[in-house]
Amino acid sequence: MKKMLNVALPKGRLGEKVYAMFEKAGFECPSIHENNRKLIFENPEKGVRYFWVKPSDVAIYVERGAADIGVAGKDILLEYGPDVYELLDLNTGKCRMAVAAQNGFRDDPKRTLRVATKFANIAAQYYREKGRDIDIIHLNGSIELAPILDLSDVIVDIVETGTTLKENDLSVIETIVPISARFIANKASYKFKSDMIDTLVSRIAGQLEG
Ligand code: PRP
Repeated sequence: MKKMLNVALPKGRLGEKVYAMFEKAGFECPSIHENNRKLIFENPEKGVRYFWVKPSDVAIYVERGAADIGVAGKDILLEYGPDVYELLDLNTGKCRMAVAAQNGFRDDPKRTLRVATKFANIAAQYYREKGRDIDIIHLNGSIELAPILDLSDVIVDIVETGTTLKENDLSVIETIVPISARFIANKASYKFKSDMIDTLVSRIAGQLEG
């Protein structure tokens, strides 16, 4: 029986774009366009099986081998440090991890800074390197509310277009790191399915150059 390559795609716009890259690389799965509630699709002829995963969960599927490969944001890789290979920067899903505060915010370096974020590890490391004491307030979404309601002084969050900040009278005060989507692989799968994975990576790399 032909080996199947299991691919975890991030559900949403980024995933659609990434699937188009895989399709163009010769790993198409036409049934994926037919049904928008199903989560798993396969094309046995091409030896490929795709599943739609919550973007922040892709790295878990890949690290544990439920998926051989997947596409995850650099933000997730930095935050959780999954034990996977990062094979390619897909140069899409670009944004940045930044510190933002209310317009006119004045920092008092003598005080502990209250930082609201979904990315506690990234924030902790960033301020540790600066030697700044912080108090992390871990939130799961709508982070922008925290400084408005004085739950925090600043936020550490993803900024893409900057619209969310602007509409809430916040602005970026420091950029921590640029973010983009990465092609990741399970370490054991990369040994056993390296032929397929290498073919895919080199074709997609070719598309990015072309
Ligand atoms: C992210 C982030 C910001 C927003 C930034 O949220 O947390 O809220 O996008 O984008 P912008 O700069 O283009 O306005 P996401 O949409 O991922 O949802 P979330 O609130 O669940 O994190």
